[in-house]
Amino acid sequence: MTGQLMVKAEGVHKSYGPAHILRGIDLEVRSGEVFCLVGPSGSGKSTFLRCINHLERIDGGRLSVDGELVGYRQKGDKLYELKDSEVAAQRRDIGMVFQRFNLFPHMTALANVMEAPVQVKGESKAVARERAERLLDRVGLGDKMGNYPSQLSGGQQQRVAIARALAMEPKLMLFDEPTSALDPELVGDVLDVMRDLAESGMTMIVVTHEMGFAREVGDSLVFMDGGVVVESGHPREVLGNPQHDRTKAFLSKVL
Ligand SMILES: Nc1ncnc2c1ncn2[C@@H]1O[C@H](COP(=O)(O)OP(=O)(O)OP(=O)(O)O)[C@@H](O)[C@H]1O
Ligand SMILES: [Mg+2]
Repeated sequence: MTGQLMVKAEGVHKSYGPAHILRGIDLEVRSGEVFCLVGPSGSGKSTFLRCINHLERIDGGRLSVDGELVGYRQKGDKLYELKDSEVAAQRRDIGMVFQRFNLFPHMTALANVMEAPVQVKGESKAVARERAERLLDRVGLGDKMGNYPSQLSGGQQQRVAIARALAMEPKLMLFDEPTSALDPELVGDVLDVMRDLAESGMTMIVVTHEMGFAREVGDSLVFMDGGVVVESGHPREVLGNPQHDRTKAFLSKVL
């Protein structure tokens, strides 16, 4: 991977009250990379994604996306907090897909995908619709555009959620266990969409327990535990030849 730096975390700390969750995260994600984040429950994976996406503010360290500090502007050696409107502009470039799909229940698949470009970017409905149709086609739902979420399977809803995130033309996509709420037979279609996205060159950070996906599609893998990076490397190296006892213990449970 020789792309530009897309995400750089240096000593990132985050606490919730007295609970010190992220305890100095250092990592780098390059443009075009599929970066897999694995670790036990409670290790801080979702918290870290939420920091990248401005849903949480970090308490220490530095975090930048595409060369810009998340939530701050640096002048000389001083940091200034960005205004809400500036934060919103930064967040617009980052797509996020959650375990639960969070589609708007009263809108069709097509309307769900058109919503943000029209409402947030002020795009014309015609342009938004054209793109939404193309994206729904791409995720294999060309024949379900008029369905409401309740008329779609979990896997189909998740693919709509991916199309919805892509409609904002993000430069970075964050996936937080996108398949873990799905019935096993629906997981494959969602992973296929993610694989297709990876092949198209999208930069992706993927929290997942799907080690097969990580091994085949991932360019790097980080194992996190207790709010720190324990081990990182190429997925095949880390999964095939883990160096740390905590990594070995975790992998013996999920592989
Ligand atoms: N808003 C919050 N307020 C207080 N504590 C929180 C909050 N969000 C998360 N935590 C705590 O932070 C810790 C890390 O949570 P996080 O959701 O980041 O873990 P995770 O690695 O994503 O776990 P999982 O694999 O179960 O999703 C947990 O102990 C959790 O209880
Ligand atoms: Mg989580």
